[in-house]
Amino acid sequence: MASSDEARQLRYQTDAEMRASSNSPVDNQGAKRPNCRALSLAGHVGFDSSPDQLVNKSIHQGFCFNILCIGETGIGKSTLMNSLFNTSFDEHMSTHFQPNVRLKAETYELQESNVRLKLTVVNTVGFGDQINKDDSYQPIVDYIDAQFEAYLQEELKIKRSLYNYHDTRIHVCLYFISPTGHSLKTLDLLTMKILDSKVNIIPIIAKADTISKSELQRFKTKIMSELVSNGVQIYQFPTDDESVAKINATMNGYLPFAVVGSMEEVKVGNKTVKARQYPWGIVQVENEHHCDFVKLREMLICTNMEDLREQTHMRHYELYRRCKLEQMGFRDTGPENKPVRMPDSKKTPRRESLQETYEAKRHEFLGELQQREEEMRQMFVQRVKEKEALLKEAERELQVKFEHLKRLHQEERIRVEEKKKILEDEIMAFNKRKAASDILQGRPLPATPTVALKKDKDRKNSGFM
Ligand code: GTP
Ligand code: MG
Repeated sequence: MASSDEARQLRYQTDAEMRASSNSPVDNQGAKRPNCRALSLAGHVGFDSSPDQLVNKSIHQGFCFNILCIGETGIGKSTLMNSLFNTSFDEHMSTHFQPNVRLKAETYELQESNVRLKLTVVNTVGFGDQINKDDSYQPIVDYIDAQFEAYLQEELKIKRSLYNYHDTRIHVCLYFISPTGHSLKTLDLLTMKILDSKVNIIPIIAKADTISKSELQRFKTKIMSELVSNGVQIYQFPTDDESVAKINATMNGYLPFAVVGSMEEVKVGNKTVKARQYPWGIVQVENEHHCDFVKLREMLICTNMEDLREQTHMRHYELYRRCKLEQMGFRDTGPENKPVRMPDSKKTPRRESLQETYEAKRHEFLGELQQREEEMRQMFVQRVKEKEALLKEAERELQVKFEHLKRLHQEERIRVEEKKKILEDEIMAFNKRKAASDILQGRPLPATPTVALKKDKDRKNSGFM
């Protein structure tokens, strides 16, 4: 995972590279050109209005900011969001009986003076409510990655419209820690550790009015030391811009912010303030002696909103994009930082362009496809052969059975024929004996018995039997 220092270094490097290339005496084609000369202007030209042009353009375009709130059900996410933006986002309470964690995103259009802000608030629903919390962070990881993927897909389009694209990448994750006063829960550590390379995490202690002053200080120290010892990189307010370096450095020392949220208006002296009322007193949301709410709002919205957006794009999205393109086979350099050459090229090593990498990858893929096709074809032929052999064997067995039955049938027929002949002989002998006895007893002979016997035989042969 890239640390925040590494990412900042990456940013400085990129800036330095850009500065270097703009002053470089070598143009795109590699031809030498003279160094830039500094000239003084004889009069006003007008390009000193460039910053104003930028401001006007940004105001016209509007701003976009996406906040992810991770925290247990009922920890005070919605109340804090309402308090931060001084509005009511119409959030509904969730139940504690969600079978798994899911994310709910709502987008709002806000306006302050003439500046428009498209704000997306993403809340975790059911976080920390399941008995088995093993994969509680997975839907969050998937959500963040899905927003990066959507942006990458837009970037990779031939006709892309990034100007009016609704960027849903998460710019900041407010991680709500329960005010237990003990230490972080395993789920907190695990989730923050998994997310720290994907999003700017600002940990906050929720419902800080439920914890005493001395306990709170110890709790803060404990949380920070646990984060450090577990290698969790939380967002550090940047100190490279002189105008905000001092305040940001001071505020880094207050992390994690202990916040209180409330939309309840209470009269304190002659002022109406947002506060939580208790039988023993009032906790004022915007009182810096009571909690760090103002510090959070100041850091999140007034001072570092732009840095959070920039970090999201330059560090987290860059990391996602790099991993994704590498997964797809694109590389800038090979092992030991040497330029890569084409797989089948024996020529001098040179840098691969995106087009060449794509072609090489396509070749490789087509080769694999053909190989798999050939394997499948061979497997099919083999299967057909096996099936054919089986069928032939079955046919041969059937033939043997048939021959055997045929032989049995013939033998049976011969036996029947023989028996029939014996019977016919016996009938003839019987008839003869009967005729002889009739003659002896003086009775007339029956009309041609042999003829009747013959008729009977004929009828049998013609199939009447
Ligand atoms: P789900 O969206 O349902 O998960 O809840 P949530 O995290 O959005 O919490 P929500 O803001 O609805 O607050 C839940 C309860 O906690 C409400 O009764 C709030 O009044 C109360 N609450 C919110 N913030 C604070 C706080 O700073 N201190 C205390 N003591 N209670 C708070
Ligand atoms: Mg809520």
